[in-house]
Amino acid sequence: MAKARTEFVCQNCGAKYMRWQGQCRECGEWNTIVETVPEPVAAPGRAVAARALGGFAGAAGSGIRKLSSVSAVRTQRLPSGYREFDRVLGGGIVPGSVVLIGGNPGAGKSTLLLQTVCQLSQRQPVLYITGEESLEQVALRAERLRLPADQVSIAAETSIETICALAAQHKPTVLVVDSIQVMHVNGVESAPGSVSQVRESAAALTQFAKKSGVAVFLVGHVTKDGTLAGPKILEHCVDCSIFLSSGNDPRFRTLRCQKNRFGAVNEIGVFAMTDSGLREVKNPSAIFLNRQPVTAPGSLAMVVWEGTRPLLVELQALVDASPYGNPRRLSVGTDQNRLSMLLSVLHRHAGLQLADQDVFINVVGGIRVEETAADVPLCLALLSSFREKAIDRRTIAFGEIGLTGEVRPVASGQERISEAFKQGFTRFIVPRDNAPRHAEPGMEIHAISRITELNSLI
Ligand code: TYD
Ligand code: MG
Repeated sequence: MAKARTEFVCQNCGAKYMRWQGQCRECGEWNTIVETVPEPVAAPGRAVAARALGGFAGAAGSGIRKLSSVSAVRTQRLPSGYREFDRVLGGGIVPGSVVLIGGNPGAGKSTLLLQTVCQLSQRQPVLYITGEESLEQVALRAERLRLPADQVSIAAETSIETICALAAQHKPTVLVVDSIQVMHVNGVESAPGSVSQVRESAAALTQFAKKSGVAVFLVGHVTKDGTLAGPKILEHCVDCSIFLSSGNDPRFRTLRCQKNRFGAVNEIGVFAMTDSGLREVKNPSAIFLNRQPVTAPGSLAMVVWEGTRPLLVELQALVDASPYGNPRRLSVGTDQNRLSMLLSVLHRHAGLQLADQDVFINVVGGIRVEETAADVPLCLALLSSFREKAIDRRTIAFGEIGLTGEVRPVASGQERISEAFKQGFTRFIVPRDNAPRHAEPGMEIHAISRITELNSLI
């Protein structure tokens, strides 16, 4: 008898190999390659949606047309009931879209989606499929969180065929599938959670969403090392991929969009995890600030722009004599290369010699700052730590620094200043071109145009 042909598939990214190896060459993960029997070429998942919807003619096979002749119907977005969630989705739920919600176990994915469907169910039909928890567990949680659950349709199901059939029959506007990793499609041999099952399940649900106009939310788990099982496969086929994470402060959860076909990806939504479920934080600008009564040298607050709103974050720097010949430069939450560049600019244009010092930078609260507006606060924090002189705790700074030592303006300067002033900051170190023309009473504005001017402000 001929030996059954097998192949080796990376369970992280789906790359295929002829023989086993320890590390996947595609995604670099270790021990993710598993021997599997190849699936038949005709992918079973793709036909599921068509069967459930009774042979509905999809977009395929419509021939060539001019793009302008295709009528783009502006579909109304559904508000999810949570402004923070809508903001991340780009202004609400788009009918027919597929949204993947990823996160660590215990991040609150099930809680967030249960709260959302309960809110939505007041106005439209919804269907919640739970594959991991029993109906009783979900009911218990809804009861404990005092959610309006009387209009929520729910089923405990793990078969994609049944889910599509249920949804086709029930006609919800929103379908939640918790989670994609426990779902299976008939005809796919491998176990739920494997690359082929996840891929086929997601493909079937995507097709179902596109053909029926139902908005589908998929819950996706994150493996130990922080990647979604089968992330590349899932991220390709969904319209929107959102990550729910908890930063350093366990009370807060941030929703961050990694891919969005219907909006910007730089918005974040902030929730607080309380004993009565997730609550929106409507004005999160100051939650990442550490309001200690005394500031230590090297610490400073800055205003960064996240999506469409300002966020106040604390930046810390530590400059310390290096015991070795090769000093360390380490930054957590900001760009390492930018730090090296700023150290050179500080040396050349502000006379700060740090060649024999270790330099560490940390953005408090697990926030990642990509903006160049962090340049001025970074230099101030470095100067403050090096000279062991604390900066007045009512000080806030922002601004970009160029290679010639000039301080450049950044976008939305006025809004940054107003937000910081609202939060009680009164001393502003800002680029000259961002300085307000008429400072409000109580504001102390230091408008700077060269990096050397920072020396006199510490
Ligand atoms: P859950 O939604 O089950 O997480 P996921 O589906 O992402 O794995 O959330 C579980 C966590 O949330 C759990 O660790 C406890 C916390 N939690 C609260 O603090 N308060 C609450 O009211 C609820 C429902 C959960
Ligand atoms: Mg869950």
